[in-house]
Amino acid sequence: MATVERAALKWDYAPAPESRDAAPLKPRYDLFIGGKFVAPTDGTVVSTVNPATEEVLAEVAFAGPGDVARAVEAARAAAAGWAALPALERGKYLFRIARLIQERSRELAIVETLDGGKPIRESRDVDVPLAAAHFFSYAGWADKLSYAFAGRAHEPRGVVGQVVPWNFPLLMAAWKLAPALATGNTAVLKPAETTPLTALILAEIIEEAGLPDGVVNIVAGDGSAGAALVRSDVDKVAFTGSTAVGKEIQRALAGTGRGLTLELGGKSANIVFEDAALDQAVEGIIEGIFFNQGHVCCAGSRLLLQESVAEEVVRKLWARMERLRVGDPLDKNTDVGAINSAEQLARINDLVAAGEREGATRRSVACELPEQGYWFAPTLFLDVAPANRIAVEEIFGPVVSVTTFRSPAEAVERANNSAYGLAAGVWTDNGAKAFEVASKLRAGVVWQNTYNKFDPTAAFGGFKESGFGREGGPAGLAPYVRFAS
Ligand code: NAI
Repeated sequence: MATVERAALKWDYAPAPESRDAAPLKPRYDLFIGGKFVAPTDGTVVSTVNPATEEVLAEVAFAGPGDVARAVEAARAAAAGWAALPALERGKYLFRIARLIQERSRELAIVETLDGGKPIRESRDVDVPLAAAHFFSYAGWADKLSYAFAGRAHEPRGVVGQVVPWNFPLLMAAWKLAPALATGNTAVLKPAETTPLTALILAEIIEEAGLPDGVVNIVAGDGSAGAALVRSDVDKVAFTGSTAVGKEIQRALAGTGRGLTLELGGKSANIVFEDAALDQAVEGIIEGIFFNQGHVCCAGSRLLLQESVAEEVVRKLWARMERLRVGDPLDKNTDVGAINSAEQLARINDLVAAGEREGATRRSVACELPEQGYWFAPTLFLDVAPANRIAVEEIFGPVVSVTTFRSPAEAVERANNSAYGLAAGVWTDNGAKAFEVASKLRAGVVWQNTYNKFDPTAAFGGFKESGFGREGGPAGLAPYVRFAS
């Protein structure tokens, strides 16, 4: 491994840790079924840990198949009443949830960071505000659905089963629940096994907002609870997670007539042309792959550089990487936090080792990593061949692979040469080129001269193995209704 020593910093920030006292945790969190927090009947109770320290944060009830069935029954029992409510009233509940998320935003950000390992700057400035924004946005749509659907007659699907991953635990819960509720469905949501806490605080918020019992049920659990939920008597499934599990769910639902949307992985290309503002592009590359440890489905993990500027961009990028602050996720100055779990760290290590074996040149920042917890230093790979595993497979870690191109046509061809198609970035000062290239990219989202920017009014979703269906904006409402022919 070729490691370059971290350049000596002339000065550094003093530690600025966020206070844990602002987010007192309960010793135990139960299942939220039928408007009550209840113990599992056939599940278990597990500890949830802080991946930055391996410290146990709380005990969490995990649902067994019987518990999942109870949650689906509760959602079924609540479905007719919720659907019959005047749409304006449904909207008011969503507004209330949004306001309560804002009121508890500091606590939610701290817990998101403790349970998942992401920097507090991300939880505080991205995850929590966007979660509130999704509830606000869909609250506004609840009584305007005829505009979203151009007057087509529609009805709620009924009960929806929603399974979310660990990289944006609260935000993914908001992405799933807000449009489902706005369109008159009831829901059973299963958070990921390593990050259940903010979804369970959201359950407290939903209770406080006074939603009728059973409209939202939140059951923590592992993959077996997810498998039980997607195979249960629900009318629609929404899943975000790995492509392998997404394919398994698709097979299980084939021929059942149940609705399905899948938001799966990605191997997104971030394309930098020679006429781009290079310093700005470097900042976008950093934001696109390192700020969230690369735990982002649309992370810009394939960096495509125009040959004439490749050396300069790599030099600037490396200089910026060396100044990334890796460490305590609760510190307000931290850029790169902890890897979410030992399993995820093992996956990153495995793919990075494959990259080295296959002959790519690895450069990892020589930063000091804490002894406890799960960590991975920001890494870039040069001399990457298109067929290398690191160029093809989703790494889901702070690792970027660099390849070069000569012409816009070659950039498009390389970018599209992927089984995935979730997102892409295009950096150029030439507006016509930006639009021309973007229109040819087979990716659900294309950012121009920016990266990883989200808005509740914009649709998000993938092509090819990145999944199907859209979330966000009016497009995110359609999967939750049935149209009259
Ligand atoms: P995963 O797909 O196993 O987990 C995602 C969610 O699905 C979790 O809530 C999990 O409990 C649930 N689940 C697991 N097995 C299930 C099943 N058979 N039926 C229904 N639900 C099930 O993903 P994992 O293992 O956490 O990560 C593996 C890889 O997946 C990552 O390295 C990354 O490449 C990718 N990934 C992609 C995400 C995205 O946002 N698209 C999010 C998380 C992971």
